[in-house]
Amino acid sequence: MTGLSRKVILTGDRPTGPLHLGHYVGALANRVRLQRDYETYVLIADLQALTDHAERPEVVAGAVWEVLLDNLSVGLEPECVTFVLQSGVPELAELSQIYLSLVTLARLQRNPTVKEEMQAKGFGADVPAGFLSYPVSQAADITGFQADLVPVGEDQLPVIEQTREIVRRFNRLYGETLVMPEGMTPEVGARLPGTDGGAKMGASLGNAINLSDPSEVVREKVMAMYTDPTRKRATDPGHVEGNPVFAYLDALDGDAERVADLKARYRAGRIGDVAVKQHLAEVLEGVLAPIRERRASWERRRDEVEDILASGTARGRAVVADTLREALAAIGLLRADGEGRASSVAQSVTEVL
Ligand code: TRP
Repeated sequence: MTGLSRKVILTGDRPTGPLHLGHYVGALANRVRLQRDYETYVLIADLQALTDHAERPEVVAGAVWEVLLDNLSVGLEPECVTFVLQSGVPELAELSQIYLSLVTLARLQRNPTVKEEMQAKGFGADVPAGFLSYPVSQAADITGFQADLVPVGEDQLPVIEQTREIVRRFNRLYGETLVMPEGMTPEVGARLPGTDGGAKMGASLGNAINLSDPSEVVREKVMAMYTDPTRKRATDPGHVEGNPVFAYLDALDGDAERVADLKARYRAGRIGDVAVKQHLAEVLEGVLAPIRERRASWERRRDEVEDILASGTARGRAVVADTLREALAAIGLLRADGEGRASSVAQSVTEVL
């Protein structure tokens, strides 16, 4: 495919802590697979992270580097992918401001993703307005980069749907301007359970295996994993469904026949938890060892990592600035540049007047 005809992908991460196996299975592995076939932007959404971390900005600032290193460590190549720091693109905030006028409070409150996250974080009526409206800023991210496709976990699909509504409304009111994006969910294993058997792996839930965890830590976490509470002895028939050890094997062991055999033996009470966990620890080592090696190599080249983010942010900013210019022109608002001279948009508008 030529550079011009390639579709644009935008994905994003909230930097609130190190990325974990759930991110890998649900998003990162897919990013690596797609990186050569699409024009890919990865946005490190530090301003979005601030919407529920306003009192701990140092966590967000520190996690920016963690998240960038995590993305590089899983095998994303800076030659293929443009990494952008959200706070380095102020035009995104201006697009958000425009879109806020195209969305109702009731619609934001109905967004299932926001509802679920608000509940999980226990915000109640004290939800920060910025958190409630993060789908609007995400709509700015997606449309700002003129993304055709947005690969996300299933839990983020309502946010993409809301973006599509904003695009529809904008284009109807002001003329066809914004690119209509589509969500793209990974085919397999969209959501990895926590090591405690909880529905979702999450840093704040204390049930995550991080991509940057050393071998011994991974092994300890695996050996302490929740399995089948009804099983007292290895000879008891075991349950595979709802057992996170098998969910991880399904998602990460490339040898499906071996997994099927382990499941059969587990169900028949012919293999113990410890043996299955030992196998899982080996499988995870196979996945994580190369990631750890790449991480170590990037960590030795910190300057290069900083350059990747700085140059990516500059490239991304130029694209978003174009979108903003087009959006303002479509709406018909005047705009002056920083030096007070009329910008090209303002000139063309005044010419018409
Ligand atoms: N909300 C996303 C998450 O929590 C992160 C994100 C921010 C994002 N901006 C984005 C995802 C743009 C896709 C596109 O995972």
